[in-house]
Amino acid sequence: MTTHFGTAVQAAIARNAASYDDLPYVSHPFPQTHPARLGAVARIFKLAAPDLSRARVLELGCAAGGNLIPLAARHPDAYFLGVDLSQRQIDEGQRRVTALGLSNVNLRRQSLTDLRSKDGGFDYIICHGVYSWVPEQVRDAILRIARENLAPNGVAFISYNVLPGWRLRQTLRDALALHVGPQGPLRERVARAREMLSFLEQNTPAETTWGAIFRAEAQHLRTADDSYIGHEFLEDCNEPCSFAEFMGNAAGRGLAYLGEAALSTMMPENMNPAAAPLLRALAGDNQVSLEQHMDIFTGRTFRQTLLIHKEREGKCMRKIMPDALEGLHFVPRPDFAFLREEDGKAIFADGSGAWFSTPDADVRKAIEALAARAPESSSIEEIVAAMEVRGASVDEAVRSKIADALLRMALVGLLTPSTEPMRIARALSAKPVACPMLRGDAAAGVLHSANLRHEPIRLDIVAQVVTPLLDGSNDREALIAATIAAADVGRVTFQRAGQPVVEPADIAACAAEHVDRVLGHLHGNACLLA
Ligand SMILES: C[S@@+](CC[C@H](N)C(=O)[O-])C[C@H]1O[C@@H](n2cnc3c(N)ncnc32)[C@H](O)[C@@H]1O
Repeated sequence: MTTHFGTAVQAAIARNAASYDDLPYVSHPFPQTHPARLGAVARIFKLAAPDLSRARVLELGCAAGGNLIPLAARHPDAYFLGVDLSQRQIDEGQRRVTALGLSNVNLRRQSLTDLRSKDGGFDYIICHGVYSWVPEQVRDAILRIARENLAPNGVAFISYNVLPGWRLRQTLRDALALHVGPQGPLRERVARAREMLSFLEQNTPAETTWGAIFRAEAQHLRTADDSYIGHEFLEDCNEPCSFAEFMGNAAGRGLAYLGEAALSTMMPENMNPAAAPLLRALAGDNQVSLEQHMDIFTGRTFRQTLLIHKEREGKCMRKIMPDALEGLHFVPRPDFAFLREEDGKAIFADGSGAWFSTPDADVRKAIEALAARAPESSSIEEIVAAMEVRGASVDEAVRSKIADALLRMALVGLLTPSTEPMRIARALSAKPVACPMLRGDAAAGVLHSANLRHEPIRLDIVAQVVTPLLDGSNDREALIAATIAAADVGRVTFQRAGQPVVEPADIAACAAEHVDRVLGHLHGNACLLA
């Protein structure tokens, strides 16, 4: 393995492998890495983007394939390769691939330093949560792989911790490392780190900056998984860098900046409208410089950067025009809604704090149509069709106002553009249909799966009984009967007030309650097909 590097680098890579074998990452889907979103960002900047239905997708540091496997399951004509150093995680992912019967995904145990271009070009390359957590030689390998393996029109996603913002979190990393020390199994060190976190939260002086940092971090980490705390705060390697440094390294490998996975973070107007003109002036006409200044201003700690080949940089249109939205689909958050009317303007918002207001009656009707279609995505055509059904007449001028509004909403973060539609059940039907991958995962006892928005979804034991039956042929009564049968054989147990439920009538009542809970959970979390 990695024979062309010195022994110190080989030892660091071997330690990394052992560390993830010892404490595997909980392997999740990351919606922001979805190639349909990466392609949409390219299209918004007027660049061609490969069609996902037949794409080749490579994930670097894929852990147990939690991000890649759901993509492969939903795109049977596309091909997916995942590479990771940890045998234990690859084995776990391979078991899930086999259980789902997928033939278009390959998970491979290999160090990124050994990955060459012989596997051919990839339309999308994803590297989430790896770049900052590996030695310099592996970081360089990630950029080399992106350059050597990205198809000419491809998009690469790389996330990393950024300076100067991460320096504040570094204080906690230093504190935990001093307390826990470098020796011993990672899981035990995490337990000691958690004790220290509670101590810091309760005892550091609240009125000092120092205390405020620790208290905020401790609160944030209270619900974090052990694997996150271990690998983020106790691992040998966590090397944040500035955005300028990252882009310098990427440029050195022949890669250029496309944008961020979340478009809204590229706009200083979203951060502080008063400061935006000054930041734009400081940066000149340079998006990289603008974003570096924004990092200094906001103390941002994490970036999810999209790269393209440097040969395409000149074709990237930074002045975004509404016509770039043609053919794209827009996904609102589930809580997106009309908020109120104020001074003759309709205000729409979601729980993220982002909002959009319009005084225009046609635009208002268009956004109401989009909200009524949620949780499904909407294209301009679908919005126009929904307006026409309600009697509105939509000419070119109105269509162009709608496109302008959708663009503005995407830029403030109210809508996520995607090259693919999202078809999700709006209402809970009498015989619901869950997406096939979720049914397969549930049948195989997988706890962490993915919903139709490519977000994590947890399948508890009742969900594992009910979900495989959601193929459109079973109603609520059939699901309750199956849950009672699972209770009869001891697969499911119910408790009330800490006591096991044993009477058949009580078991039936509990089964009905839990089936309703699971159906509500699956419906509310984008797991059921339209
Ligand atoms: C922090 S985890 C992130 C996993 C996943 N991408 C995510 O975001 O949840 C880092 C992953 O990179 C893998 N890794 C570390 N060094 C590597 C190397 N040299 N080659 C391949 N994978 C590596 C680890 O095994 C681990 O699964």
